[in-house]
Amino acid sequence: MGSFPAVLVVGSCLLLLTLGASAQQLNCVSKLQNGRITGNCISIRECDYFMRILTSGNPTASDRSLLRENQCGQRGKDVLVCCPSTAGLGALTHPLLPTDCGAARWQRSNDTETRIREFPWLALIEYTKASNGEKIHGCGGVLISERYVLTAAHCVVQATTNNLRITAVRLGEWDTSTNPDCQFHEDTQKADCAPAYQDIDVEEAVSHPLYNSSNLSQVNDIALIRLATPAKLNDYVMPICLPNKQLRADELEGLVTEQAGWLAKTSPRMRKNFVTISSIADCHLKYSAHKLSIQASQLCGFVSSKECHGNSGGPLMLFKNDAYLLGGLVSFGPVPCPNPDWPDVYTRVASFIEWIHDSLRE
Ligand SMILES: *[C@@H]1O[C@H](CO)[C@@H](O)[C@H](O)[C@H]1NC(C)=O
Ligand SMILES: *[C@@H]1O[C@H](CO)[C@@H](O)[C@H](O)[C@H]1NC(C)=O
Ligand SMILES: *[C@@H]1O[C@H](CO)[C@@H](O)[C@H](O)[C@H]1NC(C)=O
Repeated sequence: MGSFPAVLVVGSCLLLLTLGASAQQLNCVSKLQNGRITGNCISIRECDYFMRILTSGNPTASDRSLLRENQCGQRGKDVLVCCPSTAGLGALTHPLLPTDCGAARWQRSNDTETRIREFPWLALIEYTKASNGEKIHGCGGVLISERYVLTAAHCVVQATTNNLRITAVRLGEWDTSTNPDCQFHEDTQKADCAPAYQDIDVEEAVSHPLYNSSNLSQVNDIALIRLATPAKLNDYVMPICLPNKQLRADELEGLVTEQAGWLAKTSPRMRKNFVTISSIADCHLKYSAHKLSIQASQLCGFVSSKECHGNSGGPLMLFKNDAYLLGGLVSFGPVPCPNPDWPDVYTRVASFIEWIHDSLRE
């Protein structure tokens, strides 16, 4: 275990630029200040967690010993570290959140049409009309454990105003015109078929206590739905990871994130688009012309495509350390969407981790 942190810290830039091929992954145990969690033994260059420590300017003695303790090998000039899994970082702080979450099961692409297993945490909220019992799907949501779905508070509050009741959550949906759904893959000449979707009754839907629907700024636009029975997890139904502490402090401006849902006019299938996070100050300035006050607990972003696909309450997804993290929930934006002059506004989920953790029950 010797000298690696000192060497790497001193020469980091030079060394990192000359390093070669991508690492093979091996499971290991990361020893962090507040405990041990599973990780992958990968090149330090590919591990955001340790790169942040390395590039933070002046690593302390305890940073160095942390790095030393987590060295798990060497390949050529490439130092391998036990990089804590994102999932693990989430699990560290809450026993009711899954350690297996946010897995990307396919080659990421820029296609607007999604793969059938691309975003298995996407949910659709089912409402029942008080007048005639008719069921409709309105808002989106996102699965964070087998029992819980996050959505926007306005999706819960507006239901009551419109004489609708939230009755169920649909999971494992991809093509809303078929059930079960199959996708034919040209490259493999095979069909990938999902099991039938799961419509699971809602036990309760709790909006954030500080959400005020009358305030146009829509701060605290987040709600937690508890399912009456646990979802059956499979390749097509799986929770996303909540952001870890590290991400909570990150400046996300400029980051390209993903959004998916069923708003496409030309397709019953789940579609996606990219969203580039924009400056919160600019967003605040822009919207203040309409007397809105955008806060740090929100995120603003511009959609890359000609159409917005993410349903209200659906997720804004960040791909980091090989897994998808929940960055935001669709709150509001320009109509029609997108509009290059007006960013969409999202609830910044990282600002509500404590509330989420405190609200979870066995
Ligand atoms: C996808 O789009 C992004 C941003 O527009 C671009 O940087 C990237 O190269 C594209 N990737 C592929 C595989 O086309
Ligand atoms: C909610 O917002 C409206 C409009 O901004 C304000 O008049 C009202 O007092 C707020 N309600 C609460 C409970 O803060
Ligand atoms: C609406 O909420 C924002 C953010 O909390 C606050 O700054 C603003 O004063 C509120 N507006 C009104 C009219 O209460």
